[in-house]
Amino acid sequence: MQLKGAKILLTGASSGIGRALAIELTRKGVDLILCGRNLDRLKETSALCEGGNVQTFRGDLSLATDRVSLAECVEKSFGKLDVLINNAGMVGVSPVAAQEFADVETMMQTNLMAPIHLSQLMLPLLLKASQGTILNIGSMFGDIAYPYFAVYSATKFGLRGFSDALRRELAGQGIKVVYAAPRATQTTSAKAFEKLISPFDMALDPPEKVASFIVKGLVQGKKTIYPPSKERFFVLVQKLLPGLIDQETSKQMKRCDF
Ligand SMILES: NC(=O)c1ccc[n+]([C@@H]2O[C@H](COP(=O)([O-])OP(=O)(O)OC[C@H]3O[C@@H](n4cnc5c(N)ncnc54)[C@H](OP(=O)(O)O)[C@@H]3O)[C@@H](O)[C@H]2O)c1
Repeated sequence: MQLKGAKILLTGASSGIGRALAIELTRKGVDLILCGRNLDRLKETSALCEGGNVQTFRGDLSLATDRVSLAECVEKSFGKLDVLINNAGMVGVSPVAAQEFADVETMMQTNLMAPIHLSQLMLPLLLKASQGTILNIGSMFGDIAYPYFAVYSATKFGLRGFSDALRRELAGQGIKVVYAAPRATQTTSAKAFEKLISPFDMALDPPEKVASFIVKGLVQGKKTIYPPSKERFFVLVQKLLPGLIDQETSKQMKRCDF
């Protein structure tokens, strides 16, 4: 896809992968609307996007009303939309038995309901653009279901399934749907699984590296974007020999203090 001049809505732009994506995308000459709950941090991101045409929108995407207001803002500002990037998300890590159900609901709303609802809301604007694209930021945990990440995994498995189905559904209308699955990344969210990094033998990527391979995949017109890493191999093992993942996670859990 051609990014120069593209009108892009990027959710979860106040930190981490979203901030790095905003910086990378403005280097390519796009016009951006950045969304998040923390306006100060959104403005910090905006200031880092040197020379870019960047607007901010403060909203809580776990709330349907804020998603509708965001769609109104995009329509008013851009009148069409080339790319919707559903990046906003939260990582919750805990044994399921210890998880508050209110937190489960918020995670489902933020990670899964918001991308689905925003896709619905933005579709008329995406259809007005010549290269309408929905880019959903998933996770390796959307392919490999990990203990203590059960609800998070459920949201990302759901997002991957939604992306695959929607890609097929919208192909005839010229809308592309892309699913990206970063592995563990050094962001604020990583604090949630800090104590699992060593027992689960996780390698963490810097957000700039993640943003760079996602934007590269977007430009190349890929349907799915997976980083070249050992986790990519585990995705294959999960599909062909899931029992091996059971054995490995069982060993890893013995090294955890949950
Ligand atoms: N870190 C990892 O290891 C990792 C690995 C694979 C995939 N991912 C995915 O990458 C995406 C970005 O995460 P990150 O690692 O960059 O974490 P992060 O630094 O914590 O960023 C999360 C972003 O989402 C926004 N957000 C969270 N809840 C929101 C809500 N209710 N309404 C609006 N915005 C909300 C946050 O903004 P405000 O706080 O300002 O609202 C923030 O900008 C997520 O979808 C995550 O699942 C992360």
